[in-house]
Amino acid sequence: MSPQAHVTGWGKYVPQRVLTNNDLAQMVETSDEWITTRTGIAERRIAADDESTSSMAIKAAQKALSVANLNPTQIDLIIVATATPDHAFPSTACLVQDALGATHAAAFDLSAGCSGFVYGLSVAAGLIEAGQYENVLIIGAETLSRITDWDDRATCVLFGDGAGAVILHGNAAEGGVLSGTLGADGSGGELLCVPAGGCKRPPSHETVAEGMHYLTMKGREVFRFAVRIMPSATRKVLEMADLTIEDIDLIVPHQANQRIIASSARSLNLTPERVYSNVARYGNTSAASVPIALCEAVDEGYVHQGDVLVLVGFGAGLTWAATALQWSAPLPTDPQSRTKAVWYKVLYRYAKVRSWIRSLVRKIAAQFTKFRQ
Ligand code: ACO
Repeated sequence: MSPQAHVTGWGKYVPQRVLTNNDLAQMVETSDEWITTRTGIAERRIAADDESTSSMAIKAAQKALSVANLNPTQIDLIIVATATPDHAFPSTACLVQDALGATHAAAFDLSAGCSGFVYGLSVAAGLIEAGQYENVLIIGAETLSRITDWDDRATCVLFGDGAGAVILHGNAAEGGVLSGTLGADGSGGELLCVPAGGCKRPPSHETVAEGMHYLTMKGREVFRFAVRIMPSATRKVLEMADLTIEDIDLIVPHQANQRIIASSARSLNLTPERVYSNVARYGNTSAASVPIALCEAVDEGYVHQGDVLVLVGFGAGLTWAATALQWSAPLPTDPQSRTKAVWYKVLYRYAKVRSWIRSLVRKIAAQFTKFRQ
């Protein structure tokens, strides 16, 4: 029997700084009333200057490892789903791999907009079920505040920063990831886009002056796409797992807009208690939204062992993805002991020193080679 992919660890990190609707009303022509009624968002988190997608991803990953009781060297693969990587390359996943000291892990970034984390879950589950990997760390992390045009009221009220992580572990027990569906429609690419900064329009004085490095969005079209695709992806993933709507204990949808979440719930005939939402607190954190919401749903007691969950996302690309899973991890989790906290601290310090030594050795070797020539 092939192994099943089970969630054994989860963790989130959100920056400290809170930006409220009233704060935004001081920056652009908008109001708390408009933002709340059109989106359900009350506030969002904004990364500090010294934070980035990798630094938030690392913190979320550390929490997930601690919940899973896993040593970083036991991770086989790290996937970071993000539209706001620290660099074009190296991948953010490689930065995370180094900081964690996950010395046996392969690492890559996944670009599928807001669907990225759910895409990553499917990829990871497939590799686990194929027997290729045992422990995969999947992270959704974004610093959207750095690609947001803070003068554009149509977009700046929607987005926030943060990171969420999950560990999938393969074993023969029943449950875990039951099915997954992925989709894309590139004809809608221009609906959500960062026009410049890639190789098609490399950064130049002109692109910067024209604000082409900021996120642009055709909100109404994305809205129409979202309310159609969320229910259909949910139905498809249930059908693949031989389940019905009645079997769902909780849906954790992409947190873009409360109206999209409510409309999807209505068309699936789901009562609001079976649809998790925290969009009011964080806004749309793109690939980070589903894992942050999952962590909060677990922490707030909405998830129980044996529950059937559907995670569903949509986003830039256009893309969409849904995963059905049966929650197998015991809840609540043991509170982290002091010894365990100290142990992880030592591991991460060691990872930092190890990384520093390896880079120093590389530099010395380069100098030595130059000297011999
Ligand atoms: N404050 C006040 N007024 C505003 C604001 C604002 N912040 N933003 C827009 N308006 C105005 C518009 O100018 C417009 O005025 P007009 O009628 O005089 O032209 C009016 O409000 C209505 O604008 P709409 O865009 O039609 O408003 P809508 O009800 O569609 O809501 C929204 C806009 C919230 C963006 C909605 O369309 C939406 O949520 N779309 C989906 C967004 C989404 O899910 N994005 C996912 C991103 S996924 C990823 O991969 C990053």
